[in-house]
Amino acid sequence: MDVAEIEAVHAARVRALDPLLPAPPPLAPGAGHLLAADGGAAIAWPQRGVESDPWGPLRRHLLEVRLARPEALGDLLDQWFDLIHSSVAPGDLECAAVVELPSRDTEGVFALVQRGFAPVSVAAVRRSGRGSTRASDVLVRPAEPQDLATVLDLAVAVVEYDAPFGKITPRPEAIEALRNQMTGLLAAPEPRIWVGCRDGEVLGSVYLQLPPESAWCAKYTSAPDPAYLASMSVRADQRGSGVGSALAAHAHHVVEAAGVSMTLLHHALPNPRSTPFWYSNGYRPLWTTWLRRPIVR
Ligand SMILES: CC(C)(COP(=O)(O)OP(=O)(O)OC[C@H]1O[C@@H](n2cnc3c(N)ncnc32)[C@H](O)[C@@H]1OP(=O)(O)O)[C@@H](O)C(=O)NCCC(=O)NCCS
Repeated sequence: MDVAEIEAVHAARVRALDPLLPAPPPLAPGAGHLLAADGGAAIAWPQRGVESDPWGPLRRHLLEVRLARPEALGDLLDQWFDLIHSSVAPGDLECAAVVELPSRDTEGVFALVQRGFAPVSVAAVRRSGRGSTRASDVLVRPAEPQDLATVLDLAVAVVEYDAPFGKITPRPEAIEALRNQMTGLLAAPEPRIWVGCRDGEVLGSVYLQLPPESAWCAKYTSAPDPAYLASMSVRADQRGSGVGSALAAHAHHVVEAAGVSMTLLHHALPNPRSTPFWYSNGYRPLWTTWLRRPIVR
């Protein structure tokens, strides 16, 4: 089977597994390295992050796979490891091997488990109208410039809460970058961040991107122009009291009022608060990111 045949069978397989996935583009070696196995092909390439970006380790080795036969994944992972292992420092926690797979393409994933990868993060999707809402005593209003310190604390809390689960990486530079981002968002003409309050006190926040701001995430789905729920955080002492539900309901109302049919978000899969929360609010997994970090112990 040549690479074009593998790509065609792979595309048909994932289309049948999940209609919300995009058609996989042809593998483009570019600066990467083409790997081939019996019934599988992949591109391996390195990616450098920046200190101010907390959403992943600094040095990433990425593998984009096409599987006509899911059993081919193990061979591709072994070839990839042979390719990269001599260039990584043992114990380097800022260096990870990263494989993102359609969440429902589960047949071959034991090959990842056998090689020390963990499923750490999910891109989840919600069709407009899914999930339930209930009456709430939480007032949701657009965040204002004077909310900056509170909104920044809430944004930092998400990074710190998610960090132990493997992908998010807090660094001092990231806090400063978040402050600059929040300052810009709070000055935007249209609200992008909303806060949930009781008795005038801000208890949580949500940051929502609508098209065209969310255009960057269109690559994840076959749905046109998805929205992206970029961040949600509730003060630690208020979690489990309905603040997140009120913020999510509001964000979904904004999405639906804008005529957008799909919302995406990323969450840490082992997060015991966000994972059940998002799935009871109408989301389901679309892409799962598997990480091996460090690559060599
Ligand atoms: C995830 C998070 C945003 C959810 O917000 P929350 O305010 O804790 O969520 P809620 O209180 O609305 O819902 C959580 C649970 O409380 C229940 N609940 C309790 N009182 C409620 C009320 N009055 N109204 C609605 N739900 C209520 C919900 O049913 C839900 O139960 P479930 O998990 O069994 O479905 C919040 O826990 C958090 O900030 N976690 C840490 C940071 C984080 O993980 N952020 C998300 C990153 S993707």
